[in-house]
Amino acid sequence: MGTPLLPLLVVLQLFTAPSPAAASAHISAVISQSGLDFAKDLLVSHAAETLTPLSVPDIEKSASIPLVGTVRMTASGIVLHGLAVTNSTVAVGDTGVVVAATLARANLTMEWSYSYNAWVVTITDRGNASIQVEGMEVGVSMGMKNQNGSLKLSVMECGCYMKELDITLNGGASWFYQVFIDAFSNHIRTSVENAITKKIMEGALKLDSFLGNLPKKIDLDSVAAMNVTFVNDPIFKRSSVEFDIDGLFIPSDETAVPRGMLLGDIKFALPLGSSSKMLWISLDEDVFNSVSALYFKAGLLQRMVDKIPDQFLLNTASWRFLVPQLYRKYPDDSMLLNISATSPPSVRISVGRIDATVDLDVTVNVLDFGKIVPVACMSVSVAVSGAAAVSGNNLGGRVDLDYFSFTLKWSKVGKLHTVLVQTVLRILLKNLFVPYVNSYLEQGFQLPIIKGFSVRDAYILTSYSKMIVSCDVAFIEPEALFLVQTQGRFLV
Ligand SMILES: *[C@@H]1O[C@H](CO)[C@@H](O)[C@H](O)[C@H]1NC(C)=O
Ligand SMILES: *[C@@H]1O[C@H](CO)[C@@H](O)[C@H](O)[C@H]1NC(C)=O
Ligand SMILES: *[C@@H]1O[C@H](CO)[C@@H](O)[C@H](O)[C@H]1NC(C)=O
Ligand SMILES: *[C@@H]1O[C@H](CO)[C@@H](O)[C@H](O)[C@H]1NC(C)=O
Ligand SMILES: *[C@@H]1O[C@H](CO)[C@@H](O)[C@H](O)[C@H]1NC(C)=O
Ligand SMILES: *[C@@H]1O[C@H](CO)[C@@H](O)[C@H](O)[C@H]1NC(C)=O
Repeated sequence: MGTPLLPLLVVLQLFTAPSPAAASAHISAVISQSGLDFAKDLLVSHAAETLTPLSVPDIEKSASIPLVGTVRMTASGIVLHGLAVTNSTVAVGDTGVVVAATLARANLTMEWSYSYNAWVVTITDRGNASIQVEGMEVGVSMGMKNQNGSLKLSVMECGCYMKELDITLNGGASWFYQVFIDAFSNHIRTSVENAITKKIMEGALKLDSFLGNLPKKIDLDSVAAMNVTFVNDPIFKRSSVEFDIDGLFIPSDETAVPRGMLLGDIKFALPLGSSSKMLWISLDEDVFNSVSALYFKAGLLQRMVDKIPDQFLLNTASWRFLVPQLYRKYPDDSMLLNISATSPPSVRISVGRIDATVDLDVTVNVLDFGKIVPVACMSVSVAVSGAAAVSGNNLGGRVDLDYFSFTLKWSKVGKLHTVLVQTVLRILLKNLFVPYVNSYLEQGFQLPIIKGFSVRDAYILTSYSKMIVSCDVAFIEPEALFLVQTQGRFLV
């Protein structure tokens, strides 16, 4: 594990060199060498499992044998069993990745037969054989491109090589053994190599169609969805691969129901970690601002409040002496507060800090014989600072009130006492507004992680206008290789 400085150095290396083509990418994910190793192990073990039993096409040959004549021979029912990977590596090149694996010895079983004409009778014989394969190596190099916002995977080279074949024939005439070896060993070798190569190409095609079918958006709720369209080609660097996605929130066309609030503990990860994390996801502050703009536009950033922790404040009687006009006009009436954002909250991220400002109109209403009557309105500018956290695969957060300022916009009940308003606003913001905002923030939104994978040991760094989530990844659901389409809610 490195010194505390090490992760930062890596971040600098990974994220400070601005790539000119990445203009429209607001989220980028960098898979480090340990992440590539993890992905490679998954792929290789899956491939080894699906590779066997592997059937190889039958082979037929004729050979002219002294004293015997022309012999027709077949090798059929050739099946490869028990492939086990001893070691494998993955390396990044300029245009793609190379995966190579060394396989442990494997067995082949097969049947042989031959026939030839001796005078007027046809002599045939058959039996089986087993073959031990020693020193098998398989390598594949794959490139990836962006095609119309999806990833297109192509195999550039695929090779399989066997060092030695140790063939044991059961039965057969003694002359046949050498004839068989001479006639078939190279053929069997090439056939098996071809069959393995073909299987790997088929696997790559499946992987390609899986990548091509990744969804282009992840719904958050009925309002917003994250645009996870890939932009730019993946960038292959020394021992890492970077994927850029659009990452901004766009209007959701789903009729998804917002899920219930989740008021619980979320762990705030310490900004510590090792540079050997598998995945680094960097999110622009634009990502957060895009969802805030959508929520604002959808009219969700306003609430009529009739219950507060200090309920007595919402009755004109409590204001009898302080705002006499209010009590005189509306004696002993309930009050309601209309708190509504006047512009989308704006988020700014800098080194070690996440800040947001929210401009609100707080309208004081009185419930007069069942009618809501506005009596005064204040324009309030609230500054909060926050911390982000990863909970499950979600990126959430929490804010605290930093400071606020206000001006009286209008009033039908005379001038309001500044210190008084300030005190009440502070109570309101601290006890109502911030907990309310946090109840949404804590749910956050899903990081763009492929379904079936889960984020582990995440930690978060903030740098200039970016938030960086660094984490390991675990594979939890082998069957479910699709992006998760969870519903969530996010509000800044
Ligand atoms: C696997 O290990 C052997 C022996 O340690 C080594 O010679 C070979 O290059 C390794 N293969 C790969 C693909 O790493
Ligand atoms: C397959 O190989 C294993 C050792 O790797 C050996 O024990 C077994 O007998 C072999 N099976 C056949 C059918 O040759
Ligand atoms: C191979 O043939 C022998 C007899 O010739 C038989 O005992 C054995 O079961 C056969 N093995 C296979 C795998 O067919
Ligand atoms: C590109 O994607 C869009 C929608 O995602 C689709 O309508 C269009 O047909 C695609 N074009 C090509 C060339 O695949
Ligand atoms: C999603 O992002 C892509 C790439 O930036 C962009 O072309 C596309 O228009 C975006 N989709 C929507 C609905 O905004
Ligand atoms: C709350 O105030 C906003 C703007 O000040 C206004 O658009 C909205 O209609 C009000 N809501 C209610 C329920 O009165």
